[in-house]
Amino acid sequence: MTGKSVVTPWKVEGTVDYIKLVKEFGTQLIDENLLRELKEIVGDLHLFFKRDYVFSHRDLDKVLEDYLSKKMFFLYTGIGPSGNMHIGHLLPFLFTKWLQEKFKVNLYIQVTDDEKFLFRKLKFDEVEKIADDDILNIAALGFDPDKTFIFKDTEFIGKIYNLVIKTARKINFSTVKAVFGFTNETNIGSILFPAIQIVPTFFEKRRCLIPSAIDQDPYWRIQRDIAESFGYYKTAAIHTKFLPGLLGPEGKMSASDPRSTIFLNDDPETVREKILKYAYSGGGATIEEHRKKGGNVNVDVCFQWLKIFLEPDDKKLKEIKEKYQSGEMLTGELKEITIKKLNEFLELHRKRKENAKKKLDKYKYDGKLAKEMWQKKF
Ligand code: TYM
Repeated sequence: MTGKSVVTPWKVEGTVDYIKLVKEFGTQLIDENLLRELKEIVGDLHLFFKRDYVFSHRDLDKVLEDYLSKKMFFLYTGIGPSGNMHIGHLLPFLFTKWLQEKFKVNLYIQVTDDEKFLFRKLKFDEVEKIADDDILNIAALGFDPDKTFIFKDTEFIGKIYNLVIKTARKINFSTVKAVFGFTNETNIGSILFPAIQIVPTFFEKRRCLIPSAIDQDPYWRIQRDIAESFGYYKTAAIHTKFLPGLLGPEGKMSASDPRSTIFLNDDPETVREKILKYAYSGGGATIEEHRKKGGNVNVDVCFQWLKIFLEPDDKKLKEIKEKYQSGEMLTGELKEITIKKLNEFLELHRKRKENAKKKLDKYKYDGKLAKEMWQKKF
């Protein structure tokens, strides 16, 4: 990482150097060969690969081998309900949806209401309200209702407690202290929590593949140290970068700073206001300077959002890039394009969320996988 950059599951600060992070975390960059193999198997590649947003992995090659040899694998991801869900949170879930569609595998989604109660100064009821809304946002993406199980930790914990203690016995305090920076002042619930986030990787006796941003990887490192010692696979993972917040390319979009964040429930006017007021621009200081020198797409937040998820059409993106870099397109115009695209994206999401209400019980209790999970002995 450059300068004072920090990446932990709870904090991302500074300019993240993703290449260095891969070395530091001991993960691997996704290379051309792996991409070719993936494309051969599933037929195409998700936009996030093409736009260099999904960039790193652990054992993805082994996941593909397991798929080809019919051993199969399963997917696991999650959300921590600490505030309203924002567009950055949605991206790993959109990617997970694609993976499930392509590979037709089971997917477990953990909602860590316990984590956010323990780590944040939130009331229990507040966390529960946020968690229920998160579940609706996730269900809106249309995961396969018979192959997807969404659970809140506080509700499902009784079923998995055996696995939690079996996992917890293998991890000592010095490990979580080193990995997560816990101190003597950390409450003891937080110290147990890593075991709870690791447990879903043991839901099946097959390899688990976890799509998430790279901030969650420290958990998987611990999982990989202990899994084989009690008969499970080391988990595989596939990592995205971070969606930058409105205030600039440093750090990540985070629910704890509303000025940097577009929430999924922001109305069109709020989206417009936030982008016009806060979106960090790569444009020149004056119109004259911009016309002369052009804009910097690498730091411009609107351009980055278009690149990562709002403009899937390569030709259109290239056109915007060229016009902005040459100074022909002004920051104001780029912002208007982004506002329009983002409001369309959010409008569609809200409609899907409304429809998802009917499907919630399938994901939580009575879809095929959900039923199996409530009956399963661990
Ligand atoms: P949480 O709620 O911090 O984040 C949920 C998911 O969103 C990703 N993420 C982001 N992705 C892109 N840009 C951002 N600005 C951004 N902010 C967050 C996270 O990497 C994550 O994929 N402890 C976890 C919940 C959890 C979990 C899991 C996450 C439990 N089991 C398994 C991933 C996989 C948490 O608080 O996530």
